[in-house]
Amino acid sequence: MVYATRHFVRAASSAAATAAAKKLIVKHVTVIGGGLMGAGIAQVAAASGHTVVLVDQSDEILKKSTKGIEESLKRVTKKKFADKPEAGAEFIEKTLKNLTTSTDAVAVVHSTDLVIEAIVENQEIKNELFKRLDKFAPEHTIFASNTSSLQITQLANSTTRQDRFGGLHFFNPVPMMKLVEVIKTPMTSQKTFESLVDFSKAVGKSPVSCKDTPGFIVNRLLVPYMMEAVRLFERG
Ligand code: NAI
Repeated sequence: MVYATRHFVRAASSAAATAAAKKLIVKHVTVIGGGLMGAGIAQVAAASGHTVVLVDQSDEILKKSTKGIEESLKRVTKKKFADKPEAGAEFIEKTLKNLTTSTDAVAVVHSTDLVIEAIVENQEIKNELFKRLDKFAPEHTIFASNTSSLQITQLANSTTRQDRFGGLHFFNPVPMMKLVEVIKTPMTSQKTFESLVDFSKAVGKSPVSCKDTPGFIVNRLLVPYMMEAVRLFERG
């Protein structure tokens, strides 16, 4: 019995070690969409030492995104390095060094480990983007969507890498909000899921695991809660 237990523990820990060894350590990230969410995601990824390319449709939008990130970094630094202004300035400089921008997603995905999509909430536009990038991104690259309301499975089906596709649902404002929902479809591999969990932790967030179900966890709980508040109000 003791032998069997020991044997089981050894086998389990060796299986865990093999799975861990296979995980992708994300170093280079491409964030598509430099709006409210994309800029926040790019900021936390760059601040935690990842090299990041932020992509949007025009240089004008990207200038605005970069300015927003700089302002946000100043606010973060004021709190984080309240007594050490020099360390704060160094933190901002290092973060901005990790961040570049581009208007050409196809040209930048060729060397990325992780693509995080945060563009307009439209199934067709997102599908078209993922389908195009799938042809140019390396084999190992994981694709993730920050969508709030679309099915991750349907987005994954626009690519040939359904096993390397998941959801990474951040919350607004990204630099402040700790939670990230990591969404696994029936096709997402364990390795991809674990890589996304590890990446979420690496950017300082608290990931929770979720199936590809409408509303994921937070919105699924929040919407009925808000509806009840409306009903209570209506009843006086
Ligand atoms: P946003 O409207 O602030 O930003 C979207 C950005 O995507 C814009 O800058 C737009 O120019 C760019 N864009 C659109 N099509 C593009 C394309 N084909 N290629 C490159 N860039 C493109 O939107 P927001 O609020 O940042 O939302 C983005 C995604 O995040 C959506 O899927 C949304 O459902 C999700 N989300 C939003 C949250 C929120 O509180 N706003 C919270 C969590 C998720």
